[in-house]
Amino acid sequence: MRTYIKDISGFVGKEVEVSGWIDVRRDQGKMVFLDLRDVTGKVQAVVLPNHEEALLVAQKVRSEWVVKVSAQVNKRPEKNIKAGVVNGDVELEVLAIEVLNEAETPAFDISTDGYEVNEEVRLEKKYLDQRRARIQRNVQLRHKVAKFIRDELDKQHFFEIETPLLTNPTPEGSRSYLVPSRLWNGNFYALPQSPQQYKQLLMAGGFERYFQFAKCMRDEDTRGDRQPEFTQLDMEMSFVSQGDVMKLNEELLIKLVTQLFPEKRIQQVPFPVLTYKEAMEKYGSDKPDLRENKNDPNLLAFCWVADFPFFEKTGEDNVDGTGEWTFTHNPFSRPKEEYMQDLMEKKNIGDILTTQYDFALNGYEVGGGSIRNHTPEALRKVFEIMGYDAERIEKNFGHMLRALASGTPPHGGIAWGFDRLMMILLNEPNIRETMAFPKTGEGKDLLMQAPSPAPDKTLRELGITFKK
Ligand code: AMO
Repeated sequence: MRTYIKDISGFVGKEVEVSGWIDVRRDQGKMVFLDLRDVTGKVQAVVLPNHEEALLVAQKVRSEWVVKVSAQVNKRPEKNIKAGVVNGDVELEVLAIEVLNEAETPAFDISTDGYEVNEEVRLEKKYLDQRRARIQRNVQLRHKVAKFIRDELDKQHFFEIETPLLTNPTPEGSRSYLVPSRLWNGNFYALPQSPQQYKQLLMAGGFERYFQFAKCMRDEDTRGDRQPEFTQLDMEMSFVSQGDVMKLNEELLIKLVTQLFPEKRIQQVPFPVLTYKEAMEKYGSDKPDLRENKNDPNLLAFCWVADFPFFEKTGEDNVDGTGEWTFTHNPFSRPKEEYMQDLMEKKNIGDILTTQYDFALNGYEVGGGSIRNHTPEALRKVFEIMGYDAERIEKNFGHMLRALASGTPPHGGIAWGFDRLMMILLNEPNIRETMAFPKTGEGKDLLMQAPSPAPDKTLRELGITFKK
């Protein structure tokens, strides 16, 4: 039976079977030292001259070959003990080695943290890059954080519910990726920029508390903290106030940092709450970096920013609205109570403040959400202010208005940029380092070579021709 390398020290004096990779091999002629690696760690093994067959194999194996080793677990002599290192006090005496697969010489060094390796080369051979200790840790911790959140939200009566990827565009202020339909030539699905409409429809559907680790797709220029395809921790709750949503999220963030990242210090609890106006006046940013000491990699300065203007004048890059006004954050948001009348009367539009709340961490916008308009009349006013005529409102949002008219409870929610949160918790310079299969800054998947031209037959079936 296989023993994981992390458990080896519990088997001193016994025989174990270890499967994994050759991390490093040092051939000293009469004997060969092998560092073996599996998903749980590393251990040093020695092949002595008296195990002739094993020695022949050991002389042939190279880094990254995959092997199964039978070995005796020995305590290291006192002078060879490496204190503080996993398996620093034990060593394997190899009895037999079976080669499970050979490996070509790796294209780059995987024993380092990898920052010095050209990133395009790392992305092209991501499976090799994933073997380095840093990426293993990042991806494994990402799993641990997601599991922690799932367990916590489950305890708080949330349901994890999947929502469709093939859908219609939902406005989040970016462009959507389109997917042509074969059965309905000339028609397109859109990949979701977020599950915003579906999660509100789940509130109409009576689930009351929803969350999802949701894949979101946005066709925008990428940056270090942006990818065309990213993950949100998305939530929505019925019968809640702005304060309820903020409190639940703040408590979840504090709990997860304290339990999974004990080396980190949260600068201020409860998190400071700034109005948008204060943040802009004091820090010139709606995602201010409030760290007292920016050299401390373990300092986390969370803050809430609230009281955003609901609407702004339409800019040239506006992709959603046609009118004079567009939404600043989310068209489904509800104004703060004292501005509801202005919304309903479409008055003082530039002064209307929304229930939008963002949270920033160390100068990054990590999450944002709001309380929603849960009556059809109020949501309709938002679209009217944005210059949509009745026909367009019906076509794009008729389903939402009908759902709201069917007895939808008051509700609100939030979404965290999960990759961004992980980037900061893991002290990484960009979100690509937290993803198992990131794309380049230009949105390319270098491993799969996507995007790529489609075969003529596929295009014909889709009814698509390109102008030369
Ligand atoms: P918003 O558009 O603010 O809100 O997105 C929520 C969070 O998602 C992260 N994010 C991204 N991360 C990586 N790459 C991207 N391209 C990218 N774009 C956004 C950010 C951001 O704070 N439906 C609303 C949420 C709600 O109101 O409940 C929404 O999507 O960290």
